[in-house]
Amino acid sequence: MPNHVIILAAGRGARMRCARPKVLHRLAGLPLIEHVVRAADRLQPERIGLVVGHQADRVQAALSHRTSLAFARQDEQRGTGHALRQAEPLFDGLGGTLVVLSGDVPLIRPETLEQLVRAHEGAGAAITVLTATVPRPYGYGRIVRADGRLADIVEERDASALQRRLKEINSGIYALDLPPLFDAIREIPPAGASNEIYLPDLVRIYRRRQLPVETVEVADPDEVRGINSQTELAEVKRIVRQTRNEELMAAGVTIEDPATTYVDMDVVVGPDTVIHPGVFLQGRTSVGARCELHAGVRIVDSTLGDDVVVRNHCVLQGAALANGSRVGPFAHLRPGAAVGEAAKVGNFVEIKKSSLGRGSKANHLAYLGDATIGDGVNIGAGTITCNYDGKRKHATTVGDRVFIGSGTQLVAPLTLGDDAYVGAGSCVTDDIPAGALAVARSRQVIKGGWNGRRDDEPDGGSSDS
Ligand code: UD1
Ligand code: CA
Repeated sequence: MPNHVIILAAGRGARMRCARPKVLHRLAGLPLIEHVVRAADRLQPERIGLVVGHQADRVQAALSHRTSLAFARQDEQRGTGHALRQAEPLFDGLGGTLVVLSGDVPLIRPETLEQLVRAHEGAGAAITVLTATVPRPYGYGRIVRADGRLADIVEERDASALQRRLKEINSGIYALDLPPLFDAIREIPPAGASNEIYLPDLVRIYRRRQLPVETVEVADPDEVRGINSQTELAEVKRIVRQTRNEELMAAGVTIEDPATTYVDMDVVVGPDTVIHPGVFLQGRTSVGARCELHAGVRIVDSTLGDDVVVRNHCVLQGAALANGSRVGPFAHLRPGAAVGEAAKVGNFVEIKKSSLGRGSKANHLAYLGDATIGDGVNIGAGTITCNYDGKRKHATTVGDRVFIGSGTQLVAPLTLGDDAYVGAGSCVTDDIPAGALAVARSRQVIKGGWNGRRDDEPDGGSSDS
């Protein structure tokens, strides 16, 4: 049977109490909606549709990399049933099973959806509701059964005191047969104070029409946690964090403190790598084998080879660290920073759009911007590339085995040949040929007896003036 997926994501998420559309809140580096689309994708459906409404343009823009999605608009948010109705044109004339997902239920596993579709089709049901039994059902629609069979779904605000005690909840995920669906949705009457059209009311309509209604209970209720508030978002983040960390540990990564280790969805970490507390690995970061990431490190969209050490409190963004390189503590590697094999970057060093060759060192207090630095180079403490003239950025090129003395300013554009040598404290404004020494500083002046002369001055030495 062909199957199709529709994701409801038009709601405002008023209970989040913030301006960002709910489905664009981030969870392990991805918007909530991206998690749901990924689960849908894994079913390999013929068509994936999305109902968008509140800040629709923003939501669509966040998914612009997915060119095969079909969008429907719900201009007024009049409930989940009304939302699904807007998707009718997307499935016009199609048969088979339609899986309905919620944009705010991001932990659903594709295996569970497969199981839902199998059970639905196996039973020949018109609707199969994915349910869960949870200790705290507050806020969810409750599954009301009669003689063990699904009789009704009652929303929290419409439930009697007795129904509120029911612990089996509606996940908001359903498998539905296409042909009777859109016809039946039109029969759902507006409900509640806000006159919304509740999708779960379809159960009542199908029962009236004597169409078979079924349920499948999910084994792990965490999978169907819905996110309506900031607190629920934080709880789901904690679950994802734990899951990600368990996956990494199962693959041979040592995590000193999983409770404070934050690894985004698409991050890869090699075996025998040790992650200390308070580490954030974000975006498209990949870390090789046998690395050591010390406490308080944040690494975003960066690539680390094998045997790399990142010491405490470094920030790396868009950087590449080759095998055996060492960085930190307190280093800042910005986009385009490339640290060569076995190279060393020390404390309070900032690197932007610059490469440091194999075995080169910038151990203390340096700024390297728009620079290409060769192999075996020593960058002295306090060296800076003066790469910006107030209007444009300029490049600095440093050959192999160059020695740059401490406190040097390299005024770009500039080229230093192989084996060049720069005296400490130089302000280098002209290219240096290979093998040459450049000293670019004013000579020291000695004025003998200076301190004694100062004491002879009329108010010299008085400290109370
Ligand atoms: C819904 C279910 C509830 C279930 C719970 C599971 C209804 C009436 N209730 O409640 O039984 O236990 O999910 O998480 O369906 N949406 C739209 N347009 C709208 C309203 C909502 O697209 O007009 C979308 C939202 O963006 C969201 C999803 O539908 O992704 C669910 O809406 P939400 O308001 O969060 O429903 P719940 O109150 O959580
Ligand atoms: Ca919800």
